[in-house]
Amino acid sequence: MSERIEYAGGVLQVPDRCAIPFIPGDGIGPEIWAAARPVFDAAVETSYGSRRRITWFELPAGQKAVEHGQDLLPDSTVEAIRAHRVAIKGPTMTPVGGGHRSINVALRQALDLYANVRPVRYFEGVATPVVNPDALDVVIFRENTEDVYAGIEFAAGSPAALGLTEFLRGQGHEIAPETGIGIKVISRVGSQRLIRAAIEYALLHGRKRVTLVHKGNIMKATEGAFRAWGYELAREEYAGRVVAATDLAAGQKPPEGVVLLDDRIADAAFQDVILFPHRFDVLAAPNLNGDYLSDACAARVGGLGIAPGANIGDGLALFESTHGTAPDIVGQDLANPGSMLLSGAMLLEFIGWQEAAQRVVDAFSSVLRAGLMTADLAAGREGMEILGTRAFGEAVAQAASAGRGALNRLERDKRSRP
Ligand code: NAI
Repeated sequence: MSERIEYAGGVLQVPDRCAIPFIPGDGIGPEIWAAARPVFDAAVETSYGSRRRITWFELPAGQKAVEHGQDLLPDSTVEAIRAHRVAIKGPTMTPVGGGHRSINVALRQALDLYANVRPVRYFEGVATPVVNPDALDVVIFRENTEDVYAGIEFAAGSPAALGLTEFLRGQGHEIAPETGIGIKVISRVGSQRLIRAAIEYALLHGRKRVTLVHKGNIMKATEGAFRAWGYELAREEYAGRVVAATDLAAGQKPPEGVVLLDDRIADAAFQDVILFPHRFDVLAAPNLNGDYLSDACAARVGGLGIAPGANIGDGLALFESTHGTAPDIVGQDLANPGSMLLSGAMLLEFIGWQEAAQRVVDAFSSVLRAGLMTADLAAGREGMEILGTRAFGEAVAQAASAGRGALNRLERDKRSRP
């Protein structure tokens, strides 16, 4: 019998046999889920034998739900994720301009998943545009609920925009006649819970530095405050475990074992992730900076096809592939399941099944090192064996179930290939 994951006293309680919901998603979603799920099951079985197992069960959402006469995001789906604490989803389609809201945004807001977490690292074998892709190994914490993404927007000419225009003119601001207005909101509570999550992650995983990425030199009351609240948090809650860069003398290093909290202005940070990637470790940013930064970093190591993601709240987490529904390749067995695979590894790590999580990552990595990859990853490279979504998933599942010996064999086969 599978049981639910519970959350009590700030800690997840994960039964050995647990029920975890999944949403396959639209477009290539069902294909990458079908390829990835056997890998998770193989990794769990090889790591723990029959002691542990996940019972996956599907929740309706997206186009499939609509085809079955349900809402795009049924309330029952939101409640089931809330009740089960942890879930995984594929990409879902959002129309540009008009049409329905993004399911991802709706889920983040309904479940208060305030931290978007994206680890970005290089996997050997993947084509990248830079010469030193492995120099970047970061985890990005992007604030997920505030900033200009909070949805407080008023169209030019609307009564609210006209009223705000009048108010702002009264404050001495020049506003052109036809102006759309969007409001940027950044709060102490929103900033600190995000930065706290980043610091906790750094402490738990032995990371050495957390860098706040902001544009506080220009937007002082919002992004500048994000920075100031971050330093305040380090001083008030983490004294002795985290040191604020502003409390160190020039050139002074943090004491051994103490995490350094520093900050970088966003434009400089974008430059530095290209020029000096080794300077970064864990990054924490308001919503908009974090959005751009996540994709820029992912591009550096070979694109979104393999970047995993998680949206995390207090005792709740939704893991998801970071790319979209790829309508141009749907149903062609071309999709790369890498992002879904690595998101699943994050899920396993989140529930404390570290060995299985590592096994998924190792299996994925060894298959790539052996030169077996989907077409998008192999693009422009010689000597790669291109596999379809299904065959690639099978290769990774095989590697995950066979353990280290098979991983080594895969690598040997690759070396002996002409
Ligand atoms: P997209 O990520 O779907 O596609 C961009 C390009 O990358 C396409 O050429 C596509 O074939 C390729 N691609 C994406 N994932 C791939 C994979 N796993 N393997 C191989 N190639 C892959 O972005 P696009 O076209 O801007 O968006 C399409 C739809 O996806 C839109 O409706 C958008 O709203 C939605 N979307 C959903 C997301 C989510 O649910 N997390 C995230 C981003 C977009």
